[in-house]
Amino acid sequence: MSIKIGIAGVGAIGSALARTLTSEKGIDNYVLDCISDPDAKAYFNVPNVDFDTLMTRCDLVVECLPAHIVPILAKTAFLSNTDIIFITAAAWLLYPQIADNYKNSQSRVYIPSGALCGLDGVRAIKELGITSAKIASTKPPLGFKGAPYIIENDIDLTDIKEKILLFEGNALEASKGFPANVNVAATLSLAGIGAENTRVEIWADPQAISNAHEITIKSEYSTLVSKIENMPDPMNPKSSILAAQSIVATLRNMSSAIVMT
Ligand SMILES: NC(=O)c1ccc[n+]([C@@H]2O[C@H](COP(=O)([O-])OP(=O)(O)OC[C@H]3O[C@@H](n4cnc5c(N)ncnc54)[C@H](O)[C@@H]3O)[C@@H](O)[C@H]2O)c1
Repeated sequence: MSIKIGIAGVGAIGSALARTLTSEKGIDNYVLDCISDPDAKAYFNVPNVDFDTLMTRCDLVVECLPAHIVPILAKTAFLSNTDIIFITAAAWLLYPQIADNYKNSQSRVYIPSGALCGLDGVRAIKELGITSAKIASTKPPLGFKGAPYIIENDIDLTDIKEKILLFEGNALEASKGFPANVNVAATLSLAGIGAENTRVEIWADPQAISNAHEITIKSEYSTLVSKIENMPDPMNPKSSILAAQSIVATLRNMSSAIVMT
């Protein structure tokens, strides 16, 4: 029997997932049952419902929303014990009530790798005891436009002529200064040793044409260095195309006889 999926938010990421689910190839064992997006720009031949109905109809909900809406969806999912995939990992750092509301829920929570790579190694190294975790993100300067840290420090992004370190701190501090850029740091924190112990460097590089993320994880026995460069999603330059595919890959893995982790 197919597992019924509901997608909350069908912008760049949600609509890419919906297209895959409704394509001829589809995803084995999963069917798109409904979406929830009052401003949906695409039509997928399924009902567009509110969050409560999403939980009643679906076995698994996929969150693809702006961060500030995520706590509302999360609370609805947790109260109804609905399983949920979160692509906006940053919301777990920005809104601590999500973790509080989760405490008494039976919902299974999945957090895909999103724009990041190397989390398989992070999980294994965690078993050995991670001694340090760092993520360095590099983007073109205008990728940080509107970030509170940029505004508060009166940084003129158009004046950056060579690669510079804009910010250094832990993932919690990064989530406050760069809330729109912190999904990867949040994902690494959740997979690894938490936001307060995860160091974040944010670099602006006028020569960069992609968004790059390099993680360095150390333990007594292993050192992991993993770097990915992502082109922006044409539908939303703040997201990368890879993020949607990490959800597709998660679903394919969950339904596969041979599970790669
Ligand atoms: N984990 C990662 O590495 C990673 C990477 C990229 C993006 N993201 C995150 O994924 C999320 C989605 O990104 P996107 O590029 O698809 O964004 P998007 O802006 O293209 O789409 C968001 C959609 O949510 C809808 N929406 C807004 N308010 C809503 C509400 N109250 N109810 C239902 N729908 C609502 C909008 O109409 C829009 O269609 C963002 O929070 C982004 O930060 C995570």
